[in-house]
Formats: sequence, structure tokens, C-alpha cells
Amino acid sequence: MSTTEKPSVLIVGAGLGGLMLGALLEKCDVPYTIFERAAVVKPLGSAINIAAPVLPLFEQIGIFDECEAKGKAFTHSTVSAEGQGKIQTVSYTPIKDFTGYKQYILSRPVLYDLILNKVPRNKVLFDKRVHGIYESTNKVTIKTTDNCTYEGDILVGADGAYSTVRRSLYETLKSKGVLPVSDQEDLFFSCTCLVGQTPELDSKDFPSVNLPLCDFKSFTDKDKSYGITTFTTAQRGISWAVVQQLNAKSSKAAEAQWSQAGEKSETPEDLISKVTLDEKVFETWHHGRTVLLGDACHKLHPSGGHGAVTAMHDAVALANLIYALPNSSSEEITKAFTEYHSERLPFVMDSFKSSQILAKSFEKGIAGTIASFLARNLPQFVWNLLWKSMVKNRPVAGFLPQIPPKGNIPAVVSPSTEKARRVFDSRQGTRAI
Ligand SMILES: Cc1cc2nc3c(=O)[nH]c(=O)nc-3n(C[C@H](O)[C@H](O)[C@H](O)COP(=O)(O)OP(=O)(O)OC[C@H]3O[C@@H](n4cnc5c(N)ncnc54)[C@H](O)[C@@H]3O)c2cc1C
Ligand SMILES: *[C@@H]1O[C@H](CO)[C@@H](O)[C@H](O)[C@H]1NC(C)=O
Ligand SMILES: *[C@@H]1O[C@H](CO)[C@@H](O)[C@H](O)[C@H]1NC(C)=O
Repeated sequence: MSTTEKPSVLIVGAGLGGLMLGALLEKCDVPYTIFERAAVVKPLGSAINIAAPVLPLFEQIGIFDECEAKGKAFTHSTVSAEGQGKIQTVSYTPIKDFTGYKQYILSRPVLYDLILNKVPRNKVLFDKRVHGIYESTNKVTIKTTDNCTYEGDILVGADGAYSTVRRSLYETLKSKGVLPVSDQEDLFFSCTCLVGQTPELDSKDFPSVNLPLCDFKSFTDKDKSYGITTFTTAQRGISWAVVQQLNAKSSKAAEAQWSQAGEKSETPEDLISKVTLDEKVFETWHHGRTVLLGDACHKLHPSGGHGAVTAMHDAVALANLIYALPNSSSEEITKAFTEYHSERLPFVMDSFKSSQILAKSFEKGIAGTIASFLARNLPQFVWNLLWKSMVKNRPVAGFLPQIPPKGNIPAVVSPSTEKARRVFDSRQGTRAI
């Protein structure tokens, strides 16, 4: 395939999903541009659990060592309940044997920068809000609010839960009468999450920041209507997240409460972000030359902590399939997007369900009581079974050197990785002739 035949990719949104896709397309030499509405990258968010599901990929793109240096390893976590003290300790050490990788806590802004550094500056355009999308058989065109127009072969909506690309795509499908009923419904408003990280803290007041391993703790109130999780970071600060289950009525009252909670913390207010979390897996992920990834097509409950990893997994599947495209005809693109959806959907549904089970333990009432009772009393061997299924998916890029397999539970083989690997081998062969 000559350079001119490579598809050009427009990515809307420089979140973790969009950036990871950019970093991968950079590695396989597919032309792309990322459009981000924010003018600057603010260091927002809490911390993310980085482990076997993404570490082989991080090795491939060259951020594993920095991740290890800037992250904090952890081996266990504790859960405490108001008035009852510590009610549970969970050990994660078996995961190292299963996968060959340790578990790390990385502050979200630190992870964001590691991936951003893998994308050349001229390929991420900040302060570019996309607001118009036009598709013809041969091209897709986007318009930004500063009145610029860009054209490409593929449009990727990596623009988060309130995706403009999704909205535009769904309007088109609705006008044609082909939008599934479930995609016409609103996102389900289930909880609010307030997240942030403190600057470096004085170990006299916060001795845990000096511990070599991450101090990973969760707390719940006695009604279990909210949960707080804190992690010490390698930057000697604390990342935290407060999650409250909401129904439509309690949402307004909760807003006021969040702003007060924020003021009480050690975190400067501009380092706190409020993420309103609706849960939903959309049915339609692509049409024509447009495809969605990450929160734009599946918003998961934060209790599972799967949002970032799931978005990066979408990115690697999509990068493999875009790399393997024989040409930019709409038939080939539709075929690739269909393969992307069928590869990713089962894993996304698994994460969606496990997020909901975990979320239940925050809920009041009988369901919540049972879920938290079960979680609290799970013997270690049941946790091990749970983890085996959680860590089996460790997708990698087929167009980059393979990472030697580690651990005693082999990774699931992704069809998109295999496909990219075959195309890579055949292109190497062609070049050698
Ligand atoms: C600032 C921030 C902090 C977060 N903190 C946490 C956290 O602590 N814990 C947690 O579990 N999850 C957090 N999340 C959510 C989590 O990061 C995501 O679930 C996950 O990374 C999936 O990412 P994504 O790339 O699909 O979407 P997102 O991370 O939401 O990224 C979407 C990007 O698209 C941009 N965008 C949106 N519309 C347009 C448009 N029209 N034109 C151009 N650009 C557009 C947005 O500005 C954003 O940068 C946070 C998200 C953000 C944006
Ligand atoms: C946007 O571009 C169009 C055509 O190039 C021009 O007519 C219009 O005045 C521009 N609008 C703004 C706000 O710059
Ligand atoms: C694109 O590639 C497919 C598979 O190789 C081929 O059948 C098709 O004719 C090609 N289309 C164009 C427009 O080149």
C-alpha cells in the first residue's frame, strides 16, 4: 500500500481514548489529527489503576518504564465503614502470578501526560470545538467553532459522554428512521463523582504519603449512599474520589453538597473536577465513515474504575483495524467498524455488568446490603476467579513488536491484533521483495 492510499483519520476529543488512538496511529504511520475543545490541558481527575490489561500495550508504545517510575505499586486495599472500622482487606498479589505484571496507581494527570507525550504537538489541535459534521460517500468533513473546515476518510468520536459526534450521527440516523429505540433514550443519571488530587503533602501531617506502597482505602457511610476512595501517589500526594448514588430528585441537593465537600479538602479548587456519570452502553457505535470510542459509546459507572482502560482498549482495536484497511472505500471501512464493534462489545458488557454490581454496594436498600455483604465476605479464592476473568484481556497492537507473554494465565487472542499482525507480516514481505 502506498502512502497516498492510507486513510486519513480525524479524531474528536483528546481524552485518554482519543490520545491513545493518536499515539498508536503515530506508531503505524497513519495520518491523523486530534481536535480538542479545551484550550489547555488541566491536571484534573483522580487516580487510575494501571495493571496487566494495559501494561503490555504501554510497553509497546514506550511508556511502561515511566509508568512504573511515576506510579505507585499496591498489593492490597482496605474498606472501612462508618462506626465499624475496617471491614475488609483484599489482596491483589495473585494477579502478579496470573499476568506477570504488578498493579499500579497512577494519578490521572500523570497518565494523561505520558500518553500526550507520544503524540507530536502539531497533531493535537487545542481550542478546536467541533460543531458540524458532514459525510459524503467518499469523505467526511468537520467544522470547528473558529470557522475552520477539515476533511478526512474516517471520523472518530472520542469526545466523551456528551459526544457531539454521537449526537450528530444519531440525528442523521433518526431522520432516516434507522436509529434504534434504545439510542433515542437519554443517558441514565445514576451518580455524581467528585474527583481530585492534592499537591505534595507534608509527611508530618500525612505519614502515609511516605509509605513505599500505595495506601489504597475506601470508606462508606452507614447508609452506603456514598463511597470515598483515596490513594497515595508517587508524587507524595493523595488522589481521591467521592461517588454518590443519585436518583433524579437527589441530584440537585447533591450538587450543593459537593461544592462544600470540595472546600474542606486539601485540594485547590481548580484541581477538582466533577464528573456527572450516567451509565449506558449505546447500541449504535458506527455508521458510514463515523465511529465512536470510549465514553462516547459506553459510559460506565465509576465504581468499577473501568472507563479509562475500556477507552484505551477500544483505541487499540480500532488502530489495528484502521492499520489493516486495504483501502479507504466505504465498504472496507464499514467492514472494519463492524469487526471493531463485535470484538469490543462482549468486554464492554462485562465491564458494564461488573460496574453495576460494584455500584450496588453503594446503594441503599436490600440490593445494596446484599451486594456489600457478599463483597465483604468473598473468600480470597472467589476474588481470584473474578480477577482471572478481569485480567484475561490484554490487547496489543499487531503492527508493533510482540511483547513476550508473561504470567500463567494466557491473554485472550484479539481478532483485530491477529489481523493487523497478518497485514504487518505481508507488508514486510512485500517490502523485502
Ligand atoms: C478532566 C477529566 C477528569 C476525569 N477524571 C476521572 C477520574 O478521576 N476518575 C474516573 O473514573 N474517570 C474520570 N474521568 C473520566 C475518564 O477519564 C473517562 O471515562 C475515560 O478516560 C474515557 O475517556 P474518553 O477518552 O472516552 O473521554 P473523555 O476523557 O471524556 O474525553 C473526551 C474529550 O473530548 C473533548 N470534547 C468533547 N466534545 C468536544 C467537541 N465537540 N470538540 C472537541 N473536543 C471535544 C473533551 O474536552 C474531552 O477532552 C475524567 C474525565 C475528564 C475529561
Ligand atoms: C466563516 O467562513 C465563511 C466562509 O469562508 C465566511 O463567509 C464567514 O464570514 C466566516 N465567519 C466568521 C465568523 O469568521
Ligand atoms: C478495496 O480493497 C478490497 C479488498 O482488497 C477490494 O476488493 C476492493 O475492490 C478495493 N476497493 C477500491 C475502491 O479500491
